[in-house]
Amino acid sequence: CGIVGYIGERQAYPVVVKGLKRLEYRGYDSAGVALIDQQQLSIHKKKGKVADMEESIVGATLGGHIGIGHTRWATHGEPSDRNAHPHRSASGKLAMIHNGIIENYVAIKEELMHKGYQFLSDTDTEVLLNFIEDIRINNDCPLEEALRIALKRIVGAYCILLIDEDDPDTILAARKGSPLVIGIGKNEHFLASDASPIIEYTKEVVYVNDYQVAIVKKDELVLKNLGNEKVTPFITKLDMELAAIEKGGYDHFMLKEIHEQPTTIFDCLRGRLLPETGMIKMGGIEANIEALINAPRIIIVACGTSWHAGLVAEYLIEETCRIPVEVEYASEFRYRNPIIQKGDVIIAISQSGETADTLVALENAKEQGAFIFGIVNSVGSSIARLSHAGAYTHSGPEIGVASTKAFTGQLAVITMMALKMAKAKGSISDEKYMNLLHELQAIPEKVAAILKNTTGIEAIADKYKDATDFLFLGRGYNFPVALEGALKLKEISYIHAEGYPAAEMKHGPIALVDENLPVVFVTTRDRFYEKIVSNVQEIKARKGKVICIASEGDTVIPEMADDTIFVPDADELVGPLLSVVPLQLLSYYVGLKKGYDVDKPRNLAKSVTVE
Ligand code: G6P
Repeated sequence: CGIVGYIGERQAYPVVVKGLKRLEYRGYDSAGVALIDQQQLSIHKKKGKVADMEESIVGATLGGHIGIGHTRWATHGEPSDRNAHPHRSASGKLAMIHNGIIENYVAIKEELMHKGYQFLSDTDTEVLLNFIEDIRINNDCPLEEALRIALKRIVGAYCILLIDEDDPDTILAARKGSPLVIGIGKNEHFLASDASPIIEYTKEVVYVNDYQVAIVKKDELVLKNLGNEKVTPFITKLDMELAAIEKGGYDHFMLKEIHEQPTTIFDCLRGRLLPETGMIKMGGIEANIEALINAPRIIIVACGTSWHAGLVAEYLIEETCRIPVEVEYASEFRYRNPIIQKGDVIIAISQSGETADTLVALENAKEQGAFIFGIVNSVGSSIARLSHAGAYTHSGPEIGVASTKAFTGQLAVITMMALKMAKAKGSISDEKYMNLLHELQAIPEKVAAILKNTTGIEAIADKYKDATDFLFLGRGYNFPVALEGALKLKEISYIHAEGYPAAEMKHGPIALVDENLPVVFVTTRDRFYEKIVSNVQEIKARKGKVICIASEGDTVIPEMADDTIFVPDADELVGPLLSVVPLQLLSYYVGLKKGYDVDKPRNLAKSVTVE
């Protein structure tokens, strides 16, 4: 979910609504705002996108210098007007928005119902709000105190904004597990789930930490812990430009972000990859090189697309560094009582740095003594702060819900990391090492070459857009790419797609093959080339439609495939950085041609801060 708050001298509503639109990629099942104007609390909310809410309140008076807003990704209760945030307390005085999940809400709800409270929604948020109000009434204490007492009793994750009709000069905020940034302006403060709604007003921000409560007035920001002790706010300067979060002439963020990749990969390599001197400079690795290369085992923890980057990392690190690697879904890893031994290194991969499952998995591993290395895109995010060391991907803000440039940024970091470790360990030949430095350096230009002409990919999207299922197959380094291709298509076009290792396909998916099934093969020239050619033939023999991602100059594949998309030749270790790009474009165009909102695919959220 996305949350926004404003207090200051401007009109709050326009600031809050604009901020919600910037955060909409975090959730868009419903949206709402609460304002206090002339001692009157008003709440407006609606199922659907922020624009639907705006439309529903045309003509309403929306004054006030204090406001909070929310764009929701439903957890408790279906998306509907009544389950939308903000919620109003039983007395009608308080309004609250909440990002996260309150796990013990059922018990609290029962307790409150026993006391006669009635609930207007199915949400855990309304339960927490009335719980706070009940504490305030019973203890006859300030709202701030009641909030702290309530937070000590609840289990779960939250980022909360709370306002009180009787105190129109204060926004109360609190976080545990869900992100919260406060922007500091002149006689005004901005609150949001991430910095994107804030940067057009101020670059000075405070990242609120877990178990902190913020008491925010227009000209004062006080941070406290749950024990009511003041904490000094640590002010950071945002290193981000407004243009980075706008579409800049593209129809969609996703398309813009795909096309940004030559630049974002270049930015990721810049100053780090130095083939002239044979060096890779990465401070976080250098400072911890012994821990990394002597690790008995590396465990990679991630979700979604970042998990696919983790699979590529497994191939790269095992091959070049000869260290055993395991790749784990964070959600499984955190609950299965994993074995973490002395010296084990955990690599966390996350675009947002806020994914709840990844974050908690890391917290657990950290408690057990593991060394945590974070590969994160979002600077200052929770995972970045929790890691002992790390490397940013420097891909810039990624707004499209389906991850594209963040993935290639992750691959670039992972490749440099593996090579740097291998060099230090002496597990790679000088020749191979130098060759790979040059191969990596050439990637941005090769990606640009793929992006120069995308009409072929668009035509293929048009040809196959009505298929109901797709298979994506690859071997070796291109197996994770096949998984990523399938995930992209699913996310954006709602077509059922499966990624599989090309040979494993014979153990099941081949039963699906008929003349209606498009099968996308990644058949770039690598050590498995001959083998995957045989796999293509197996599909053709069963009349499947074959689309191949092939290396430029290949004359064999186009003879067999129904359609071929070429990518420049590259060493297989860096190949995924190229072969994934046509698959990103394919899913973009299929989604577009089916008429879907590719930047905001249904049911998905960019940053999953609930488990
Ligand atoms: C969500 C996003 C995906 C992303 C995944 C992991 O599912 O929609 O695009 O890959 O979360 O997110 P992270 O920010 O940890 O990389």
